[in-house]
Amino acid sequence: MRTYYCGQLRSEHIGETVTLCGWVDRRRDHGGVIFLDLRDRSGVVQIVSDPQRTPDSYKDAETIRSEYVLRITGRVSQRPSDSLNPNLPTGEIEVYVDRIELLNAVHKLMPFQVSSGQTEVVREELRLKYRYLDLRRERMSRNLQLRHQVVKAMRRFLEDEYGFMEIETPMLTRSTPEGARDYLVPSRVNPGEWYALPQSPQLFKQLLMVSGLDRYYQIARCFRDEDLRADRQPEFTQLDMEMSFMSQEEILELNESLVCHIFKTVKGIELPRPFPRLTYAEAMSRYGTDRPDTRYGMELVDVSDLMKESGFKVFSGAIAAGGIVKVLPIPGGNSAISNVRIKPGGDLFKEAAEAGAKGLAYIRVKDNGEIDTIGAIKDNLSAEHKQELLSRTGAQSGDLLLFGAGDTATVNKTLDRLRQSVARLLGAIDETKLNLLWVTDFPMFEWNADEKRLEAIHHPFTAPNPEDIDDLKNARAQAYDLVYNGLEIGGGSLRIYQREVQERVFEAIGLSTEEAYNKFGFLLEAFEYGTPPHGGIAYGLDRLVMLLASEESIRDVIAFPKTQQARCLLTGAPATIDGIQLKELHVASTVKPKQA
Ligand code: AMO
Repeated sequence: MRTYYCGQLRSEHIGETVTLCGWVDRRRDHGGVIFLDLRDRSGVVQIVSDPQRTPDSYKDAETIRSEYVLRITGRVSQRPSDSLNPNLPTGEIEVYVDRIELLNAVHKLMPFQVSSGQTEVVREELRLKYRYLDLRRERMSRNLQLRHQVVKAMRRFLEDEYGFMEIETPMLTRSTPEGARDYLVPSRVNPGEWYALPQSPQLFKQLLMVSGLDRYYQIARCFRDEDLRADRQPEFTQLDMEMSFMSQEEILELNESLVCHIFKTVKGIELPRPFPRLTYAEAMSRYGTDRPDTRYGMELVDVSDLMKESGFKVFSGAIAAGGIVKVLPIPGGNSAISNVRIKPGGDLFKEAAEAGAKGLAYIRVKDNGEIDTIGAIKDNLSAEHKQELLSRTGAQSGDLLLFGAGDTATVNKTLDRLRQSVARLLGAIDETKLNLLWVTDFPMFEWNADEKRLEAIHHPFTAPNPEDIDDLKNARAQAYDLVYNGLEIGGGSLRIYQREVQERVFEAIGLSTEEAYNKFGFLLEAFEYGTPPHGGIAYGLDRLVMLLASEESIRDVIAFPKTQQARCLLTGAPATIDGIQLKELHVASTVKPKQA
């Protein structure tokens, strides 16, 4: 059918007769000569149809329009010096066409232009409805090719360098506890019973370790019915891994090599090693979050001890109630951030309020070094307190200090959000930086105030730190997350492999023995047949590719994603089904059908 892809041709092919297939990206009629840009997934090449040289092809070229599918045969020629295009990989050559074969035409008006040259912004709904056209566009095609390169690099590395085996695990299974709602599938042959689509292959991969398969990986589709955001999809893909007889250090080491291999292979970037590490406690203290963006400073400073005795009631009161006071120092913030923004009604104030803060106290250090504050904080903070604050936070002339006071979680959440917003606002983010870091030593549990019980932070199969085993409720977990420019791209842990420890963890999260058996009896039983120590990790493939492609949304690196409302605009899923199907599945809907 063809001898080359369009984007492959270079000056070394000059003089060759080639056959190419592809879509007409653009057609330009230059009075006498017709230029066609022919496009396939590899790129674009200029085709020239000249009535003097090949009259037949010229006649055909006259009827051709954008997005027609062609096969052309012609000779590769050097472009004249005044029409070289250094922005195009094929920009030194053009193909003088002898024969044009129309393989298919376009029969409808295109909903939008897909040409590489077009700059029109197309609504995302339209792009998703006609996704097959959207994916013709250069940016999207490039993203999917990058995704493929990433997966290929993963496979090569894991299989060829470290002996991992890819093993598929079931899609129709029982609920796996990753903390989201399940997508459920009714069973026709088992009336009243349901499968859950996996939130992750977690339990199966652990069972594969019990089976002695030693090193497993899978490019695994996961399903989670949760609120969607730019970095979340209801179905998404993980690089999922599990390995036996490896310490946490060895697992982190192997994973650093893997991530470095991916960056080197697909981006040509050598990442510095070892990756920095922060414990969960450090990350929370310095950044107020367990996934800090370390491309910029503005680290939080805890000043609770200093404010305990201050005359400012908001601060001393918060501390007396068991809370904390922390400061977000903003270099240059005095002139860059006006009072309007941080007083009630302002955007930063709103941001703080949304995170649960009741107010937003601040101190300005004027350019002449004078300290300026408002209201109660001004009258009630002694000169010594203010001076000590400046020295603790390293504040200089021209800086702004924003305060969070209250319970620890709210203060951290507030200042983390403000830190991110302010960094964006001030242009403090160095977009060229690639900051990967491990966050380790997560607590095993956190308090779920709604359900009034402890909840596993990672998942309940995560092993506690052996040093903390006697105080399980406050124990640190042997868990680790990989954070990339402030986004969690992977997370894993060493697992519990002793039945007794697993039962104690279930008990700690309020799962009765009966419930534990009902849900996970198969796992507890497996632990009795000789389970090796094991651990693993899963990466959010979509998130990783999104960051590598410098995209803002994972929808732009997934071929057929869902909208924020979990809809597929292309196929119209989810959709109603007819009564017979429901009946066969032994399911009755409580939703009244819409009136036609
Ligand atoms: P976890 O729940 O942390 O761990 O998921 C691993 C990684 O998957 C990505 N991720 C998502 N990406 C897109 N859309 C979503 N809705 C979504 N949810 C999660 C994140 C995350 O870091 N079984 C454990 C792994 C293990 O312990 O080995 C697990 O699934 O990048």
